Amino acid sequence: MVRPSYEIVSELKQRRRTFHSAGGLFSKDKIAKSTRLLVDRINPRPGDRILDYGCGYGAVGIALADAAPDLDIQMVDSDIRAVRLAQENVRRNHAEGTHVVLDHTLNRFPNGSFNTVALNPPVDEGTETIFEMIERAQSKMRHGGNFFLVAKVRRGAKSYMRKLTETIGPAKVLSRTGGYWVMRAERSPVCPPDAVDLSRYEHLVEAELRGRRYAFHTRAGIFSRKDLDDGTRLLIETVDVRPRHTVIDVGCGYGPIGIAAAHLASVGRVVMVDCDARAVEYAAKNVRSHHLNHARKNGKPRVEAVLGDRFDAVPGERFDRVLSNPPFHAGSDVLLPLVDEAYRHLRVHGRLYLVLMRYTGVMKHMRRVFGNCRLASESERHVVLVSERTV
Ligand SMILES: C[S@@+](CC[C@H](N)C(=O)[O-])C[C@H]1O[C@@H](n2cnc3c(N)ncnc32)[C@H](O)[C@@H]1O
Repeated sequence: MVRPSYEIVSELKQRRRTFHSAGGLFSKDKIAKSTRLLVDRINPRPGDRILDYGCGYGAVGIALADAAPDLDIQMVDSDIRAVRLAQENVRRNHAEGTHVVLDHTLNRFPNGSFNTVALNPPVDEGTETIFEMIERAQSKMRHGGNFFLVAKVRRGAKSYMRKLTETIGPAKVLSRTGGYWVMRAERSPVCPPDAVDLSRYEHLVEAELRGRRYAFHTRAGIFSRKDLDDGTRLLIETVDVRPRHTVIDVGCGYGPIGIAAAHLASVGRVVMVDCDARAVEYAAKNVRSHHLNHARKNGKPRVEAVLGDRFDAVPGERFDRVLSNPPFHAGSDVLLPLVDEAYRHLRVHGRLYLVLMRYTGVMKHMRRVFGNCRLASESERHVVLVSERTV
């Protein structure tokens, strides 16, 4: 389980709500202005079927829950941490008629399921991700249904307006406040009934790592989807992984670190973990395309990609190496627990390797926890830190 580390008490739609949140999630310690603006513009009618698309810890869906009788609100997110918190927040707010599921495809919903879609998009993931979300939602909307989207003018609002108009139907701006636009597009019968070809959001990343050539499948919404990240490369080129080692790659993305490690630990075991279902799907796809999915080790897959929050998918398992390129903007509430948990999941003489951009605070913490930490390598923008468990 995610251990909630923030409690947010806030008034939304004239109701006092309490949310639990955690480090690493969108607007972790307060209700975002964008969320508030979006919610204020949506006035459901009795019986509406609403999609809270990318629900995070659940503020939008929960705020709308009793805005009209007999609502059916589906809340989806691709991040397991968000889904777990949203489920807990639904219970704690007694938000009837709301359902939270881990999802990023919307394939589970029949066409024409919703008359309202609410999207406060993950702008940090880039325009492509948001365009894909709009395209995926289109066929799930009823004719005449409304798609609400909030975005900052400086962060792509105009391009989302164009995309909504082209994909859903004519979009208009409902409000302009503090640099944000809330937009609404009504699904038009003239827009095609099915989502267009989504393969345009897929990419192939080619790289040579430790003398071996790789081709990784990636897609919109996954970290560094068009090129191998410099930090990732530095980490792979630095790590000391031996043939019999057991290795975990925490925050695997599409899997470059774990897959390269699987070739170094040629008879060992490698677990790749990510909290995002899209990343796990593509890491698993790359395990298969590199023919690493067949062998087993002590009754478990030799190489596997699993969904999880840090180490919760491998309770009690100990490793020789913990490798991670943690999220860029991760603050101490993400990085410090990662170090603590890595220590507990390492064998004696096992090592934690982390690639980072800023590192003073983390290095201090690694020294505190492990009693040692050194700079294993550095490039212009990144450093690799390593600590060894000695007892
Ligand atoms: C900087 S990216 C690195 C991705 C990949 N390892 C690479 O180097 O290309 C960080 C990844 O960590 C994942 N992540 C963030 N917080 C996490 C958590 N608590 N548990 C598991 N994965 C997490 C993100 O979804 C993202 O895929």
